[in-house]
Amino acid sequence: MNSNSKNKKNDLYNILLGQLLSQDDGIDAEVLSNSALKAIKFASINRNFPIISNILLKASSDLKRDNKKLNQNIFGSKFKNPLGLAAGFDKNGVGAGIWDYFGFGFAELGTITWHAQEGNPKPRLFRIAKKKAALNRMGFNNDGARQFFQTIANQKICQPGNRPYVMGINLGKSKITPLETAHEDYALSLALLAPLSDYAVINVSSPNTPGLRSLQETKQIKKLIRTLKNLYNCPPLLIKIAPDLSNEELDEIARVAIEEGIDGMIAINTSLNRFNLENLKMKTGKTLAEEDGGLSGLPLQERGIEVITRLRTISKNKLPLIGVGGINSAKSAWERIAAGASLIQIYTGWIFEGPTLVPNILDGLSLQMEKNGFKNIQEAIGSKEPWK
Ligand SMILES: Cc1cc2nc3c(=O)[nH]c(=O)nc-3n(C[C@H](O)[C@H](O)[C@H](O)COP(=O)(O)O)c2cc1C
Repeated sequence: MNSNSKNKKNDLYNILLGQLLSQDDGIDAEVLSNSALKAIKFASINRNFPIISNILLKASSDLKRDNKKLNQNIFGSKFKNPLGLAAGFDKNGVGAGIWDYFGFGFAELGTITWHAQEGNPKPRLFRIAKKKAALNRMGFNNDGARQFFQTIANQKICQPGNRPYVMGINLGKSKITPLETAHEDYALSLALLAPLSDYAVINVSSPNTPGLRSLQETKQIKKLIRTLKNLYNCPPLLIKIAPDLSNEELDEIARVAIEEGIDGMIAINTSLNRFNLENLKMKTGKTLAEEDGGLSGLPLQERGIEVITRLRTISKNKLPLIGVGGINSAKSAWERIAAGASLIQIYTGWIFEGPTLVPNILDGLSLQMEKNGFKNIQEAIGSKEPWK
């Protein structure tokens, strides 16, 4: 596709949504997100009907990239490219049949909890457009693991290994489950969903479930990883880490997780830090410092690089790392990979920049590899090569 038609596609997104997304007090962010998910759900379940399949194929011909140099085999799965959809956008797996059409090499569905739950009271998702950021305190609203299983089954997607993209599932603790039995709650979800998943993630880093982040403590994390690894059908298991841990805590959790046989780490989740934006006025009339919830988007960029760099050192370059947080351009994607991430994910950047962010990132990565004379993406991981 030439750059003219690419720009037109971007213009279309900007015309349709740009105005809405540039105003913090316009249509509620969760309402917008749910409307998009409804359309995605419809398209996914009906993707084999000729009209829908034509629309999807047209869209995907603009968004997908097929560059063998971006292929990787990681924890037994073949990733067509290193860019994934981060957890939290498709919590119930309604788009599981079509995430590859958006150009993603992988998608992480969830967070899923064993019990269905409504999450925190609304409003609970806010745009902070000037800073290309968002604040959320969703609180793991989701249909529960049993319904998730059914939702995936209804979409008749291929078995792990035969899919056009890699599908991860991200698991959390149900709010009603006490912290002492959290490991059993995670285990129930994983035992049911393992056959569907290419990899699973222990989410102990969301700031919106009371006490959840205490599961990052040594004793707790050991118990959790051991319980899940003991399941006979446990898929490759990853842990998702909070950005607000001190460097010492970060080292400790990584050390323990590696000792317990974790297969990879994801950094970072949303942050309780306000990154010098404490006084920013929110649409509620309160300041950002006064609002509960986790910050995502551009302000997380620097911390995201720091954490990946640290984890790479601790894991002695041996563990696959997934970098997430504030990636919103090819340059920021490259920097995360150069810092040591084998794979990267986007959420807030994808919402603000639109679907063309995916091909823009993939094209940018391919070009950087060419400029550096790298034959494949593995050579870029941890290379520390600056963006050229
Ligand atoms: C509205 C919203 C909901 C999220 N829900 C989840 C979730 O359920 N589980 C999870 O692990 N991360 C969740 N996240 C965190 C993202 O996966 C990601 O780690 C974080 O937003 C940083 O990436 P970003 O700057 O590209 O958004 C959520 C983020 C947002 C903005």
